[in-house]
Amino acid sequence: MAKAVSVRGLHKAFGARTVLNGIDLEVEPGEFVALLGRSGCGKSTLLRILAGLDREVGGEAEVPGTVSIAFQQPRLLPWRRVWRNISLGLHKPDGRAIALKALEEVRLTDHADAWPLTLSGGEAQRVSLARALVREPDVLLLDEPFGALDALTRLAMHHLVEDLWTRHKPAVLLVTHDVDEALLLADRILVLDEGRIVATHHVDLPRPRRRASVVEQRTRVLADLGVDVEEAA
Ligand SMILES: Nc1ncnc2c1ncn2[C@@H]1O[C@H](COP(=O)(O)OP(=O)(O)OP(=O)(O)O)[C@@H](O)[C@H]1O
Ligand SMILES: [Mg+2]
Repeated sequence: MAKAVSVRGLHKAFGARTVLNGIDLEVEPGEFVALLGRSGCGKSTLLRILAGLDREVGGEAEVPGTVSIAFQQPRLLPWRRVWRNISLGLHKPDGRAIALKALEEVRLTDHADAWPLTLSGGEAQRVSLARALVREPDVLLLDEPFGALDALTRLAMHHLVEDLWTRHKPAVLLVTHDVDEALLLADRILVLDEGRIVATHHVDLPRPRRRASVVEQRTRVLADLGVDVEEAA
């Protein structure tokens, strides 16, 4: 079967600064991949390239199917109601019905006619997720979608994303700084550093996962990020 994502020798520079320096990556259809790495290491850059938003690159990046991206910030248009933000660009006559169905999936139907600025951070992120889902993507790119949320909302969002992924089965590439989040959700974790993938972890734990079940593997992933758990404790 064709890969959902195939990247070979991907290279990206901004002026003299090389940000991606030879990335090779294949993602299977329906696979959930998490991308970890320190701030500024090129995670958002990689996602933007995969979304087709930046074509000035070296090497190859192929995403044959449809792709949606939820950005690091929700980026809703404040002058459009929530449902319009979702249906915008769909060019379908039944845009409202489609938007309402997507809102139902993220449990926000009652905010369909709200203005984006009246939403909480978590609600805005759910709208952003609905907007990405409504395109029925083969590849869903999530750029730290839960970064700014409190711990409880984050947990609810993990369940929501896992639930949506189970039902729709897109390939997912999730950027996160949270090792536990990566371990709870992903089939595979990639660590990015200095423009390269420096470590890969396969997470073979059964789902749904609990925090306790990921503790052991967490130490190994943290070590690849340069964190010594014993020392930090
Ligand atoms: N349009 C641009 N012009 C110049 N430099 C850029 C541009 N976009 C990103 N960069 C630089 O490329 C590097 C990687 O940026 P990127 O946004 O991909 O990092 P990131 O891994 O997503 O970081 P964070 O975890 O903080 O979101 C950074 O040093 C950033 O300053
Ligand atoms: Mg980023």
